Amino acid sequence: MTTTPRPYRDLHDHLDALREAGLLVTVDRRIDKDSELHPLVRWQFVGGIDEKDRKAFLFTNIVDGLGRKYDIPVVVGAIAANREIYSIGMRAPVADIQAKWDNAIAHPIKPRVVEKAACHDVIHEGRDLVGEGNGLDRLPIPVSTPGFDSAPTLTATNVVTRDPATGVQNMGTYRCALKAPDRLVVRMATRVGGAGGYQHYLAHKKRGDKEMPCAIVLGCPPAVAFMGPQKLPAGVDEIDVAGGLVGAPIDIVKARTVDLMVPAESEVVIEGFIDTEYVEPEAPFGESHGHVALEEFNMPMRITAITRRAKPVIPSYISQVAPSESSVIKRVAYEPLFLAHLRDGLGVKGVKRVALHEPLTGLLRVTTIVCERGMPRTEIWRALYGAAFFKGDCGKICIAVNDDIDPDNADALLWALAYRSNPVHDVRTVDSRGQGHGPKREHGGEEDSTLLMDATMKSDMPPLALPKKPYMENTKKIWEELGLPALRPQSPWFGYSLGDWSPAWDKAAENAATGHYLENGRISLQRQRKGLVPETKFRPDE
Ligand SMILES: Cc1cc2nc3c(=O)[nH]c(=O)nc-3n(C[C@H](O)[C@H](O)[C@H](O)COP(=O)(O)O)c2cc1C
Repeated sequence: MTTTPRPYRDLHDHLDALREAGLLVTVDRRIDKDSELHPLVRWQFVGGIDEKDRKAFLFTNIVDGLGRKYDIPVVVGAIAANREIYSIGMRAPVADIQAKWDNAIAHPIKPRVVEKAACHDVIHEGRDLVGEGNGLDRLPIPVSTPGFDSAPTLTATNVVTRDPATGVQNMGTYRCALKAPDRLVVRMATRVGGAGGYQHYLAHKKRGDKEMPCAIVLGCPPAVAFMGPQKLPAGVDEIDVAGGLVGAPIDIVKARTVDLMVPAESEVVIEGFIDTEYVEPEAPFGESHGHVALEEFNMPMRITAITRRAKPVIPSYISQVAPSESSVIKRVAYEPLFLAHLRDGLGVKGVKRVALHEPLTGLLRVTTIVCERGMPRTEIWRALYGAAFFKGDCGKICIAVNDDIDPDNADALLWALAYRSNPVHDVRTVDSRGQGHGPKREHGGEEDSTLLMDATMKSDMPPLALPKKPYMENTKKIWEELGLPALRPQSPWFGYSLGDWSPAWDKAAENAATGHYLENGRISLQRQRKGLVPETKFRPDE
């Protein structure tokens, strides 16, 4: 691994760490970035491969649809093909990611300004960028959804803009469609709670500025890359929180042609000005809500400089239908925010976890709140309302469950709804919700609504009817000894008490499982009674 005086890893160090962990596949075969690169990596999200077995893919031999060769490699999945890859970027075990985020947001560290930066090793600016093959088209930018997308599109971006009033910078991950060697179109969400960069655009427009300075950063140190998709309050400079994540200032450098500061260890920086007067058609593009975003007017940007490292690697996020790299990055970042909001912000007692449902729904529509057993009903409803309205575009359907339910198992969720809720008492709908990020837009004022469901146990229930854990564990060994097909245990895979049970029944079950059922027969004989209807309940402990 590269030794570095920096107290944090850049993208190259991170790729070395992934390689060492066996999480990086290097593809040296020729790959067409326009029609093959993303579909190839897509297979690991739609090919029945477990999340833990997903990898980052580094492509070293890239051509485009015209057969032109590129000498810059592209990496897909390097930031978040799965949680393990994300945790290597975070330099923390998966279980500690929540605490890392909480600490970084509570203790941001201001960046350090440097004069010389790796991202300025190679500089193309001014007239250098004019003409085919001289500007953006020097970069191997893939087409994400061949067959639907209308342009190679930058996806793994940290788009830097500055609030003209306060001078505070924002960094957001926004897609940018290539249009010409020196022009691209940026899409910033205009909805309430949408892109921070769009608020800067509005501020520039209000001041009468015809352009907004912008720097699109590709390939940052992972701690900085994580900041692009993270939703932090407006006015918080994400670079400070990135410092909080690594426990040291992040090095930043002044961009060449715009008055903005960019991470010094970036792989590539695309500088320029976003037009605040004219808009230009952009998309179709396969979106993270799982449908294709149709063509719409977005913000053209004229490019004034492209700076890069001597040997850069360009990252590209695989997004579209979840699960994807995009949904993993957002999930790992957003779930801690939801939990902190309910637990610390609203002070709801007993919430153990908030899970944003990922496959197909893409985190936006279904939120599960895992609650301690016995949590008061009023607290459960506070959690449900709190989660539904924390972020405008998440939580259309919110379900509260107990902590024996795996929120990632849709069968278990249906099971909880089926056996633990009474729709008349435990289901509420709430009017007036924006459409949020999705195939339907609220431009026509169209509204959606919210469904809240309490699927927690309202009282004790009999145990789950599977053999107790030790019996399942013992026979798993026998199963493996017999060389039978590999098991993939799915929760619940053993029986456990749900409160309605008695020590006498434990004893009877132990007798039965050790061949002593006749002992149980002797006990029940003594308890024979007259005059009762069959199916009358009997409690041995009463
Ligand atoms: C792969 C990927 C692509 C994204 N594309 C866009 C986009 O094109 N426009 C947008 O406004 N948000 C997009 N997002 C979501 C934003 O990055 C996210 O809302 C983030 O919080 C924005 O940062 P900001 O709040 O500082 O603006 C994307 C996220 C990911 C992970």
